[in-house]
Amino acid sequence: MHHLRETLFGLLVLSGLQETRGAPAQEPLGGTDVAYAAARPRKIHGRFLHLTDMHPDPHYREGRSEKSACHRRKPKKSPRSGTYGYTYGECDSPLALTNYTFDYLDKEWASDIDFVIWTGDSARHDNDRKIPRTLKEIYALNRAMAQRMEEVFTSRGIPVIPSIGNNDVWLQNIMMPGPNDVTAEFSSIWKSFVPFHSYQVFQRGGYYSVEVIPGALAVISLNTMYLFDSNKAVGGCEPKSPQDPGNLQLDWLEVQLKTFRSRNMQVWISGHVPPSARNFHSQCHIRYVELSLRYQDTILGHLFGHMNVDHFFFLDAREIANNRTAEVNDAVNTLGGHKDLYQTLLKTFDHFAVPEGKLDYDGLAVANVAPSVVPNPYLPSFRIFSYNISGSRYTAGALGDTSGSGERDGPLTHGRHLGDYVDRARLCHESGTANASWACMLNAPWHANPDSPSRTNRLFTPLGFAQYYMPNLTGTAKRPPKWRLEYLTFAPRALHPPRPATDDDAAAAAFAYPIPLKQLPRTLRDANVTASKYAPYGMGDLTIPSWAALARRLAKAKKSSKLRQRFRRYMYMGANGEL
Ligand SMILES: *[C@@H]1O[C@H](CO)[C@@H](O)[C@H](O)[C@H]1NC(C)=O
Ligand SMILES: *[C@@H]1O[C@H](CO)[C@@H](O)[C@H](O)[C@H]1NC(C)=O
Ligand SMILES: *[C@@H]1O[C@H](CO)[C@@H](O)[C@H](O)[C@H]1NC(C)=O
Ligand SMILES: *[C@@H]1O[C@H](CO)[C@@H](O)[C@H](O)[C@H]1NC(C)=O
Ligand SMILES: *[C@@H]1O[C@H](CO)[C@@H](O)[C@H](O)[C@H]1NC(C)=O
Ligand SMILES: *[C@@H]1O[C@H](CO)[C@@H](O)[C@H](O)[C@H]1NC(C)=O
Repeated sequence: MHHLRETLFGLLVLSGLQETRGAPAQEPLGGTDVAYAAARPRKIHGRFLHLTDMHPDPHYREGRSEKSACHRRKPKKSPRSGTYGYTYGECDSPLALTNYTFDYLDKEWASDIDFVIWTGDSARHDNDRKIPRTLKEIYALNRAMAQRMEEVFTSRGIPVIPSIGNNDVWLQNIMMPGPNDVTAEFSSIWKSFVPFHSYQVFQRGGYYSVEVIPGALAVISLNTMYLFDSNKAVGGCEPKSPQDPGNLQLDWLEVQLKTFRSRNMQVWISGHVPPSARNFHSQCHIRYVELSLRYQDTILGHLFGHMNVDHFFFLDAREIANNRTAEVNDAVNTLGGHKDLYQTLLKTFDHFAVPEGKLDYDGLAVANVAPSVVPNPYLPSFRIFSYNISGSRYTAGALGDTSGSGERDGPLTHGRHLGDYVDRARLCHESGTANASWACMLNAPWHANPDSPSRTNRLFTPLGFAQYYMPNLTGTAKRPPKWRLEYLTFAPRALHPPRPATDDDAAAAAFAYPIPLKQLPRTLRDANVTASKYAPYGMGDLTIPSWAALARRLAKAKKSSKLRQRFRRYMYMGANGEL
């Protein structure tokens, strides 16, 4: 374990001295992650980008009608499609928008982030009967987007971790068990993103993991196509089908989490379709929630796309326990159910309107769903997450210290398991059901620990995110529209951490503003500002208790409260769920 801790420490120290550019790929052929890191130390900034659902459309034309998917017919009256997109409609992204987004990220963000989580749908929708999509076009668009990612990020040594979206395959939503043409093609398109040692697994399943800070921090990219209930080509993780690709993927995920945990590493899990009861096959959902809770001390968070609606929801043991997931979540996370999503989320947040001490965090994890780049149906956006890289001096890999004390591998804090939540006497009683649902079968003890980074602010804990958006798409090539800060989860004060003493080299090297000051509106650059319209939540960090506290505040707030209005406005980006 020691050399791993030193690797991280070394990275942070080196960060003050040297910044390497031009590393060609995530991992050169055959190299190990650690060797790669040692060879190419990077400056760690404590930030990463989450970008999703670009949906580039090469047939997009300016001045066309929404009805033709912005491909044909010039309507006599506005609205017509603009240079950079069609606002609040069903059109996909013009290449002018995706190009401009990459140019912007290149210029403004690429030198300030550590890695990129990119959660799929990098081809247009199939929404024009006159120009049906082809597999060739889907791959070409994915290749074009991957190439820009390489130019902007990989060429600087910044790992990019893409996932397969439901529009990155043909027919939409359908993906057969691998190895198949899709996994073969994506292993070629993503050859600079998927580490060499993951190729074999990727060829079979389309999932892989990347050590973004070798030996310390990893991202696991899932192929949610095998868990998504619209994919009728797979079995849906039924316990009786151990060879189902969803089960194989979750078996793999379990081994990944176990391995990363044994190495005292922390991980982000990313994917396209969010792991909600409504979106996942029900047995896949039960297994996913159980694994999220079993490895709560190892998983920093769950990042997804697909919905094109900014929101978060809980992976909650009680939902499985009640066997009411389908009912409670019926409207949650259905495309087309956007309008209901707000109401349904609030209904699930009702659980949290209890005294704070009564909240049970062992049975909770949080999924964050980022809005899309494509302005369909809302506005283009991306997120910059900030995470804790401080404190590393004294705890030399604060992750390691629990292992040093025997805590991690020793007795668990609570020793719970799914059976503590599921009323098995009631649910699993009938003959046959016991082997029919994972809810009746999963008994492994959970690694839940209130001191873990997903529950307490420490090394690698997510501190907050800043969401940028393009509120006004009107523009010309000469005067393009502007990306602006939409909101922050942070309190304004947290944007101005105290600078460490000048003689403390390691702390100085690890010092970072959560968001570079130049990326903030002028009012927030003032260190004295205590309240801002950009920062309505004032969350101290993005731990599970902090999300639960926000859910609790939302549940307790009045219908007409500012807090609820803000939350709703962010979900629908000014369209107020009318679309
Ligand atoms: C977008 O960028 C690509 C590749 O750099 C280029 O070929 C294409 O012409 C650009 N399209 C637009 C509309 O800017
Ligand atoms: C839960 O409900 C579903 C559908 O109503 C049913 O098929 C299943 O057997 C129930 N029990 C469990 C433990 O999932
Ligand atoms: C589940 O099925 C296995 C094998 O078919 C059997 O051995 C086991 O007893 C069953 N378990 C229950 C609880 O019914
Ligand atoms: C990061 O975690 C350390 C504890 O390991 C804590 O002291 C520090 O305040 C945290 N940093 C931020 C910016 O929240
Ligand atoms: C959007 O930007 C255009 C061009 O800069 C401007 O003419 C227009 O007034 C703006 N619209 C809104 C609603 O701000
Ligand atoms: C902010 O605080 C600093 C030091 O406390 C003070 O010198 C400065 O005048 C303040 N700025 C504003 C705009 O109040």
